[in-house]
Amino acid sequence: MSAELRIAVVGAGMMGADHIARITERISGARVSAVVEPDAGRAADAAGHAPGAEVFARIEDALAAGAVDAVLIAVPGQFHEPVLRPALAAGIPILCEKPLTPDSASSWEVLQLEQQLDRPHIQVGFMRRFDDEYRALRELVASGEAGELLLVHAQHRNPSVPESYTQNMLINDSVVHEFDVVPWLAGSPIVSVEVKRPRRNSLAPERLSEPILVLMELESGAIVDVEMSVSIQFGYQVTTEAVFERGVARIGQPGGMQRFDAGTFRLAEHLSFTTRFAAAYDAQIQRWVDAVRRGDLVDGPNAWDGYLVALACEAGVTAMAEGGVVPVEAPPRPAFYA
Ligand SMILES: NC(=O)c1ccc[n+]([C@@H]2O[C@H](COP(=O)([O-])OP(=O)(O)OC[C@H]3O[C@@H](n4cnc5c(N)ncnc54)[C@H](O)[C@@H]3O)[C@@H](O)[C@H]2O)c1
Repeated sequence: MSAELRIAVVGAGMMGADHIARITERISGARVSAVVEPDAGRAADAAGHAPGAEVFARIEDALAAGAVDAVLIAVPGQFHEPVLRPALAAGIPILCEKPLTPDSASSWEVLQLEQQLDRPHIQVGFMRRFDDEYRALRELVASGEAGELLLVHAQHRNPSVPESYTQNMLINDSVVHEFDVVPWLAGSPIVSVEVKRPRRNSLAPERLSEPILVLMELESGAIVDVEMSVSIQFGYQVTTEAVFERGVARIGQPGGMQRFDAGTFRLAEHLSFTTRFAAAYDAQIQRWVDAVRRGDLVDGPNAWDGYLVALACEAGVTAMAEGGVVPVEAPPRPAFYA
């Protein structure tokens, strides 16, 4: 491996372009050596922000050119598997944006391929695990200082969503993050999912019935409720309140300058995940780069975690469509992912 990790970023859309700028401007020990993007205009724009990067239309061509030590996958979820397969066959480390794949059967296939290698090579881009406040809350749970965790109240609110956003994306694109981060911070897996539909927001696009309230039960007995709103207008907000035996902890509250003005008190709130989680995205990529350069390859959620989330999403989609409490049943974790 060259001194600097040479990364191929596959997909130069919104997230891919953001990661290319991040790697070029803020991440140490790595550079973007290849931009893999079938849309020539987007590829040229993105490569313009990554000095020295070569442009390819297919991951196979970038691999064949020997231009790559590691791959960052930022194509839409349904195209993850066709990129994961050649990258795994080449035996190079991979950071795959969430989800691992759109369903548990294809995620299982990816696990089988990965297990032919000597150790896990795939990290999944659940960046909330790199957010300082989520990490502090996880430490509080693990320390036992406040007693056992009993309840989690989570809010995940978006001002609006694009036309391409469908009803199932409430689960597969949005609650997918809570399905990863809550079991991680609570130290306990999800055993069931239920979805309640409160009164519909009349400001939601006609095709969407939202907000939804997602209830998860964890193996520990803790109950988690997630309010998922995507037409709430005022801003982007991800907050969590954890209820313990001896007290309550809150993260994700608005901060910064407090403003008293014309009889009001104001605090700024985010408008997008790109700013709310900017530091978490940076930390995620830096720690992955450091892990790869050390030879550890993964330092964060792995493909097994991605598979567990795919199972929870399937339960969530069923619960949203059919009602009732839907169990989440996972096979035992293979020793490979211990
Ligand atoms: N972690 C997060 O918070 C977060 C936020 C947004 C998106 N994402 C994830 O990032 C990924 C990309 O999302 P996006 O919003 O940037 O999508 P996008 O539609 O903006 O961009 C995707 C790009 O991939 C390209 N592409 C499609 N197939 C390709 C292929 N086979 N090879 C190379 N390029 C290909 C498209 O031409 C497009 O430029 C998705 O997996 C999404 O779930 C994660």
